[in-house]
Amino acid sequence: MEPTSILNASGCLDALVAPGVARSLDAFVTKTVTPLPREGNPPPRFIETEAGMLNSIGLQNPGIEGFVRDHLPPLAELGVPIWVSVGGFSASDYASVCALLDDCEAVATVELNLSCPNVEEAPETAAELAHAARGATSKPLYAKLSPATWDIAETARAVADAGVDGLSLVNTIRGLALDPQTLRPGLGRDVGGYSGPALRPIALACVWACAAAVDLTIVGMGGVASGRDALDFTAAGASAVALGTILFSDPAAPARVRAELGVESIDRGFGSPAAIRGIARKEATSAVASAE
Ligand SMILES: Cc1cc2nc3c(=O)[nH]c(=O)nc-3n(C[C@H](O)[C@H](O)[C@H](O)COP(=O)(O)O)c2cc1C
Repeated sequence: MEPTSILNASGCLDALVAPGVARSLDAFVTKTVTPLPREGNPPPRFIETEAGMLNSIGLQNPGIEGFVRDHLPPLAELGVPIWVSVGGFSASDYASVCALLDDCEAVATVELNLSCPNVEEAPETAAELAHAARGATSKPLYAKLSPATWDIAETARAVADAGVDGLSLVNTIRGLALDPQTLRPGLGRDVGGYSGPALRPIALACVWACAAAVDLTIVGMGGVASGRDALDFTAAGASAVALGTILFSDPAAPARVRAELGVESIDRGFGSPAAIRGIARKEATSAVASAE
């Protein structure tokens, strides 16, 4: 991926409702698909907070058979690479969905959602789920990890050993907001996944830690809303960024962030964002010093 690619974060853009936005991306990532259809969690499913958003969608989706039959063909018409996000509740769930997708020419990449905070977790470890998926498909595989772990680099090494090709960092982190009148949880499922600006430094630390730990392509996400944010994720080691919560308030963000990132790079004396990749860790050179 050269230079820094711009994707949407899974679940934050309906490409069939907003095809123009999807076409402005370097790749479109679907909402997570599970083996069977799911209705998701009870409403309310969204709450805005001062520095981010809580959601508890709960992987609402048509199931893999409905997805491949009804959704994939029009997505393939968009003309951008299609990444399919895969979820499940056991290693065999991940394997069966990946095996079905392996036969679909329209699918460029499979992103394994190993980290949804809004549903029950599979009993297996992230590495075991990645291993099962790897055995079922030869498509490029990205593992999407949770920031809610003390040592994300250890998980990154384990999924790398299981054979994934890249990391998507990060998913939402569990959060709670209370209704100001009733003082009861505002979301139908009580707690939800927290996303947006407050997640950004947490996500950046995850990209930083994983870039040092493994030699995998990294898609950074978590509160990315500007070219400067994309620049930071690139400097920390990401090859791509994904836009999530920002798309709800600014659907034109992909083109804007791309343009801002170009300007931010040139302002610092770099011809392309690719020259900045990983520079945050390079010893004794700062972007400003090397640009002078
Ligand atoms: C409404 C909503 C739905 C989401 N659905 C999914 C999903 O289906 N699968 C997934 O892996 N992540 C899902 N996410 C997480 C995002 O893909 C992303 O990892 C997270 O929101 C952090 O990025 P952001 O702060 O830019 O939103 C969802 C996030 C939101 C806000």
